[in-house]
Amino acid sequence: MAVWIAFVFGLVSIWQVGCKTEDKYDDYALIKIYPTRTQQVEALRRLEDPEHRLEFLKKSRSFNDSTDVLVPPDEIPYVENFIKTQYLDYDLKPNYGRLLESAERTPKRRILRGFSVFEYHSFQAIQEYIENMSKRHPDLVTLQNLGTSYQGRRMKLVKISSDPDAGNPIIFIDAGIHAREWVAPAMAVYLVHRLVNDPEARQELDGVDWYILPVVNPDGYEYTRTSRAHRLWRKTRSKNNLLNCFGVDGNRNYGFKWAVSGVSSNPCDTETYAGPKPFSEVETQMVRNIMMENSKRLKLYVSLHSYGQYLVYPWGYTGDFLPKEWKKLDNLARSVSDAVQKAGGKPFRVLSAGKWYPAAGGSDDFAYGVIGVPYSYTMELTDGYEFIYPERLLRIVLPQFYEGFRTFAEQIKTEFSPKYAGQRLRMTREEIS
Ligand SMILES: *[C@@H]1O[C@H](CO)[C@@H](O)[C@H](O)[C@H]1NC(C)=O
Ligand SMILES: *[C@@H]1O[C@H](CO)[C@@H](O)[C@H](O)[C@H]1NC(C)=O
Ligand SMILES: [Zn+2]
Repeated sequence: MAVWIAFVFGLVSIWQVGCKTEDKYDDYALIKIYPTRTQQVEALRRLEDPEHRLEFLKKSRSFNDSTDVLVPPDEIPYVENFIKTQYLDYDLKPNYGRLLESAERTPKRRILRGFSVFEYHSFQAIQEYIENMSKRHPDLVTLQNLGTSYQGRRMKLVKISSDPDAGNPIIFIDAGIHAREWVAPAMAVYLVHRLVNDPEARQELDGVDWYILPVVNPDGYEYTRTSRAHRLWRKTRSKNNLLNCFGVDGNRNYGFKWAVSGVSSNPCDTETYAGPKPFSEVETQMVRNIMMENSKRLKLYVSLHSYGQYLVYPWGYTGDFLPKEWKKLDNLARSVSDAVQKAGGKPFRVLSAGKWYPAAGGSDDFAYGVIGVPYSYTMELTDGYEFIYPERLLRIVLPQFYEGFRTFAEQIKTEFSPKYAGQRLRMTREEIS
């Protein structure tokens, strides 16, 4: 019976997907709800009933932090009534979809002014940019072919190293597993730019190698660029043949405690479908392979996402307990946040990923729990504009975030670089004596 109902729901959502038009979201409201008590947090879970077709853009991770829901026009009274009966605070932004802008722009600007790291780019332009970097700086940048995405886009890992034979610890950064989080690939591209072009970045490259995968989910990313109705797509674009639905939430697809919490098993769920099995997606397989090939040297993994200005660490699959070494993860995250704040940015909210809403199958848990990467994080960039972070502000925030990465690099270098082993030994001896 339950299966049959789920199936019928699936058919209904196929029909809805089929009807999507350019202005689908025009009359939707964005409702930001602020829980201040534990009962309210629990009550908010009831809103997730699929019957009401609400789209959760973000869930609260602390008191004073909002749960953001996109609400179809005919459901607004239901949600407002729910909020009133729970005595919740909220803000409502009407006609939210009218703010969404289709990004498909002519490459004219790029041809006229060249590639700016402070703009959102197509996947193709990002690929061209990293190709150019490796051609211009072959001493520093190499590209590793990873294969192709589900729809056949060629993916490449950017490796930046001033001494590839030194056996340096590796910092691995990926971005864009969630299609709509455009600021994440923009940050990854900016990291490549600074590490390669800024002479002072030699310090960040001293004793540390950087591996960067700027767009993990290029099919989804390009899909969000095709029209306003698709701007908020999150998943991959693989096809479920049985239900004719598309996509898997890549950040629920990793093979560690897969699907034990915070996932949907409905392929037509637009947000958190975990996939038919762990690593069903070729894109998450690629990230897994990078981690496995480099497991010995991989000391820091950061997955870039948006939004909410959080820096979270394992476990994500449970809020019941923390890893034994959680204090190290927490301390480094706080230093990173301080560095960003010192540069004029907003501090990050630092906590374990699963504390408020456990969700299994994330890449950070896999890196930490299976690969044994000692520092593993998910970084939710920016706050205040949901997924539609304005391009004009990239110039301000990307350099601020970069300061956080300098702090990461400093820690990895002093803790793990062979070059600094002597110094570490001296320090230990001093502690002993
Ligand atoms: C945050 O919420 C608490 C209640 O949990 C309240 O006492 C406090 O004033 C709030 N702080 C801000 C900055 O809104
Ligand atoms: C890459 O380099 C070529 C040749 O120098 C240039 O025409 C093109 O605009 C560059 N593309 C990017 C994205 O930097
Ligand atoms: Zn995300």
